[in-house]
Amino acid sequence: MSSDAEIALENVLLPGGRVADISLAGGKIIHVGAGRRADRTIDCSGLLCLPGAVDMHVHMRGGETQGYKEDWVTGSQSALAGGVTTVVDQPNTVPSLTTAAAFRGRVAEATRDAYCRFGINGYVSGESDITGLWEAGALAFGETFAAASSYGSAVTPDELAKAFSVIANLDALVTLHCEDVIPGDDTSLTAHEFLRPDAGEKTCMEMLAARFSPGLSAHFCHLSSPLSAEAAMMAPPATFEVMPHHLFLSIEEHGTVPEGYCKVNPPVRHEATRKALWEMWDAIPVIASDHAPHTVGEKSQSFSAVPSGIPGVETMVPLLLAQVYRGRIALTSLLEKVVYTPAHLLGIHASTLLPGSPADLALYPQQETETITADTLHSRAGWTPYEGMQGVFPQITCVGGHISYMRNEFSQADGLWIPGRGYKASETE
Ligand code: DOR
Repeated sequence: MSSDAEIALENVLLPGGRVADISLAGGKIIHVGAGRRADRTIDCSGLLCLPGAVDMHVHMRGGETQGYKEDWVTGSQSALAGGVTTVVDQPNTVPSLTTAAAFRGRVAEATRDAYCRFGINGYVSGESDITGLWEAGALAFGETFAAASSYGSAVTPDELAKAFSVIANLDALVTLHCEDVIPGDDTSLTAHEFLRPDAGEKTCMEMLAARFSPGLSAHFCHLSSPLSAEAAMMAPPATFEVMPHHLFLSIEEHGTVPEGYCKVNPPVRHEATRKALWEMWDAIPVIASDHAPHTVGEKSQSFSAVPSGIPGVETMVPLLLAQVYRGRIALTSLLEKVVYTPAHLLGIHASTLLPGSPADLALYPQQETETITADTLHSRAGWTPYEGMQGVFPQITCVGGHISYMRNEFSQADGLWIPGRGYKASETE
């Protein structure tokens, strides 16, 4: 034996079907095979080991005014309990992250409270100090609101074109919320869908693509239908993401919760569109959650007063892994969409399950699903639209070789912030 390990995960099932011990030290996998002598051994018989997921669209809330919906403790614990080891926080906080000072405050809050790795994006508006945010460590820019949504006002096309030019010069990634909203009475899921149609997502994407600066890396957020996803595929080099709520929920099938709970932007669409989106599974580059927690009190108001957004960081991988266990989708395709492509787009490392790669891992029961219920989830939101559906939840989640979650117990590791490539430490840091 050449080197000792801090932890050996014994008798793990690997995605290819092999059973092996995974030895961890210094935050990385150091060996896969017969276990190295280790300070701590954990019997993982019966558990499938997957790389930790990278969820590139999460609203962690917190700050001074939104902690009652979610904060970094509850949001990051929810991530870990759903097999997500890295979240990318969206900057439509209150106030939004338009300055380097606000950004540094957000990093300090997350560094104190987060249990999973995190990147934080910068907010794009006419007032944003984009270069300052990049140097403060923004991982990317967006979601950028080309149409108004919860906690985000629409940025004008001229402001967007100027921002695109600065972002392209920095060689950074911009992520885009595209919709075209028709004014009208927003009284039901059907009305909400009518007022925010998928055709509007497409026109907005085309309007923005016409303003892209040369060399801009752009990513379209939460596309909700084949119409908009196909339009994104016609706008290379842009990429796009699809959310679990557009794959699992529809106007007709919105679970056991009242309609307002499933109000989200872009909206859940009709059942035929949801099914057609599944038909495009292989062409979808990224699945992300758009975890956007609001409380039961907020979601149970009259439909027009309900804020848009659905919590989902904890249920994203479990819902999809249950579909793998059912034989509907391939495990490799799931890993591409929730681990490798988002990591690649963000320029960050994900675990390959090979020696030398980060020990960001989640261990799931084999072939066993459980019934999802809000009572066992960890988000402060306290509800889920997926109540009663089947999911596969991890029993153990490891971040940088640290056992951060094991059978409902959490432990906080150090060094979880992932700054972007433009990061320059300030003199006070
Ligand atoms: O439904 C949504 N909620 N869509 C967004 O774009 C923002 C999000 C939120 O922050 O609540």
